[in-house]
Amino acid sequence: MMKLSARTVHTSRYPVLIGEGALDQFRKELKQYRKQKSKLFILTDANTLRFCLPELLSFIPELEAATKLNIDGGEEMKSLRTAEYLWKELVSQQADRNSLLINLGGGVVTDLGGYVASAFHRGIDTIHIPTSLISQIDAAIGSKTGVNVDMLKNQVGSFFAPHGVFVWPGFLSTLPSEQVRSGLAEVAKTALIRDEQFWRWLSRKRVKQILEIPFTDSFWKDLLLKTIRIKLEIVRHDPFERNIRKLLNFGHTIGHAIESLALRRETPVLHGEAVAAGMVCEGFLSVGQAGLDPHELDGVREWILDGFGKLPLLQEDESVRIDMMRHDKKNREQEIRFTLLSRIGQGRINQVCAAEQISEAFGKYYTL
Ligand SMILES: NC(=O)c1ccc[n+]([C@@H]2O[C@H](COP(=O)([O-])OP(=O)(O)OC[C@H]3O[C@@H](n4cnc5c(N)ncnc54)[C@H](O)[C@@H]3O)[C@@H](O)[C@H]2O)c1
Repeated sequence: MMKLSARTVHTSRYPVLIGEGALDQFRKELKQYRKQKSKLFILTDANTLRFCLPELLSFIPELEAATKLNIDGGEEMKSLRTAEYLWKELVSQQADRNSLLINLGGGVVTDLGGYVASAFHRGIDTIHIPTSLISQIDAAIGSKTGVNVDMLKNQVGSFFAPHGVFVWPGFLSTLPSEQVRSGLAEVAKTALIRDEQFWRWLSRKRVKQILEIPFTDSFWKDLLLKTIRIKLEIVRHDPFERNIRKLLNFGHTIGHAIESLALRRETPVLHGEAVAAGMVCEGFLSVGQAGLDPHELDGVREWILDGFGKLPLLQEDESVRIDMMRHDKKNREQEIRFTLLSRIGQGRINQVCAAEQISEAFGKYYTL
């Protein structure tokens, strides 16, 4: 177990507790919930049922009595069909307006569970206990919920604040290393858009070296705290993504198109792998459009390619990907907007790029 102290980072709406003490704190708060709530539910996927629920129950045996809801794992589960299945389960298990849904899992479980909770009886309380690196630093933080529609990412969803988020790093010890690596892409993104020193600190180590660091090392404590702080600071200022929250989209306009197309083709890529490729392509756009120093981009690109390799993107898919970006819900009137970097640690939102510029960026990626 990691020797971290629980730390509460208060947003305007709910506490986020990070560290070894996070589950102890949850146990304390659960006493209140058990008094106030009519029924407790725990949502898991196949892996978190196997690896994380036993850990959680060993910390908090009182949760044995909660009703367990389980889904298969994977991005395909983040759908209206699964949401409907869960709503039906909640109805059949006599959930009411005063029930509590605890989401124990990666970003799929926290996005889906958050969405299910937001609409069930027009909103029941929910708690996130994120278990993957992506969910600990990103998906469970910031109140966005959602499901995919027709294999297009996050087409339906809501802003719905959980009652609390409890980040226990110990869960990461059973997470497959490619999933930890996927989370590192989001960590890198967070540093690149907001905190140059954080980027220098992170990129001093190669991704492969980071993956060898035990989760008990203070490196992980620092990484979680630095990343979550930035995300919280951004969403505190702009909870509904009207302005600076868009900073978090660096790498994601292209990354989401890559991820959605791969999902549609039934050859899914990990979210972080798609974002890593997206950051390289959007890095090229940043040089042309936002004034990023090409030498700075070289360093970023080398770190990403060394750690994540290169995705085998097909040139013949380019127009489909660009079309998907036009339909991205973040874009308006067919314009494709990006968050780019003007320098390391400084993102710039609402950068409109033409299809030719995007093609050119893809062209540079193919030839790397
Ligand atoms: N809401 C947001 O703001 C936000 C932000 C970033 C990402 N997301 C979403 O999050 C999803 C990606 O998150 P993810 O990578 O966590 O996906 P995921 O939930 O599919 O988890 C990845 C895999 O790891 C397994 N897993 C999770 N925790 C584990 C553990 N401790 N031990 C063993 N296996 C474990 C899962 O079962 C799954 O197979 C995407 O759908 C993305 O759109 C949402």
